[in-house]
Amino acid sequence: AKPKVWIARPLFPEVLARLAQHFDIEAEALDRPHDATELKQKLAGVDGAIVGLSDRVDASVLEGNTRLKVVANLGVGHNNLDLDALTRAGVLASNTPDVLNESVADFAWALMLAAARRIGAAERWLRAGHWPGSNMRFDDWMGLDLHGRTLGILGMGRIGQGVARRASGFDMRVLYHNRSRLPELVERECRATLVDKPELLRQADFLVLVLPFTAANRHAIGAPELAQMKPSAVLVNIARGGIVDDASLAAALREGRLAAAGLDVFEGEPQVHPDLLALDNVVLSPHIASASAQTRRAMANLAADNVIAALGQGEVAGKPPTPLNPAVLHHRTAGKA
Ligand code: GLV
Ligand code: GLV
Repeated sequence: AKPKVWIARPLFPEVLARLAQHFDIEAEALDRPHDATELKQKLAGVDGAIVGLSDRVDASVLEGNTRLKVVANLGVGHNNLDLDALTRAGVLASNTPDVLNESVADFAWALMLAAARRIGAAERWLRAGHWPGSNMRFDDWMGLDLHGRTLGILGMGRIGQGVARRASGFDMRVLYHNRSRLPELVERECRATLVDKPELLRQADFLVLVLPFTAANRHAIGAPELAQMKPSAVLVNIARGGIVDDASLAAALREGRLAAAGLDVFEGEPQVHPDLLALDNVVLSPHIASASAQTRRAMANLAADNVIAALGQGEVAGKPPTPLNPAVLHHRTAGKA
């Protein structure tokens, strides 16, 4: 019999067709999160799964599962996966790095521009019918310029570098802070200068967050950090909810201690802090930074590639392209398999 694969979210028909060539597939028809009980039950009956970022695969979900061999995450961030628990259970995990870098970098700029030039608020005003007869003043709807300002990037992986490279078209100075310094060649390509975090907070006119979510990065931007930023600054988060303390951010925006923000991710997603929803100087989007047609297809295909390599039989079997815990593969080839 063919291996069985569960696909937790509706995917592109052509990707499902690829998977169906190799596997007996069960694909969800609706986009919705699955709780631990349901996940445990679904994963118990399959050899592999493709899951979304709202599916939390942890030790409790894997308990007693002896069949599952691979879980492919539809996303680069994988804080929804407990990698230690997956490794202990001998389950290979994979994510979708790199294929989304340029689309996410584009989206960071969309949020910077929208927040700086008040596009969301202006559009709401226009659609509400206020333009005719409003006697719009010459000094209404004034926003902030990007050109000539300082862009700060916190977290300088591939996505951060993509954000930086785009800055030369806007004639912006680029500062970054990262755990490690980039190679000189990359710094030169990005025209980016390494500074410490307090300096980044003080200097940035636009601060873009591109950190992975880890326990150490929780509230990397909270009240103390916001207090160091310029009141004229714009904050953009395209990384993960929880990196920013959303309540403190809302307070800073409301009280004029920060000019504006553009947010694609939130603490407690899909809930959005009500204080943020009440503000006009923040542009909000529902975690869609990677959602271009081309990139979402590439992500789905990469997740499928990982499952096909891990579970497929004959010539399609091989090394999964983007494993998160490759140690599992070594065990498997060394051991029983
Ligand atoms: C999206 O947030 C991703 O991690 O791919
Ligand atoms: C941004 O949307 C603002 O109103 O300042």
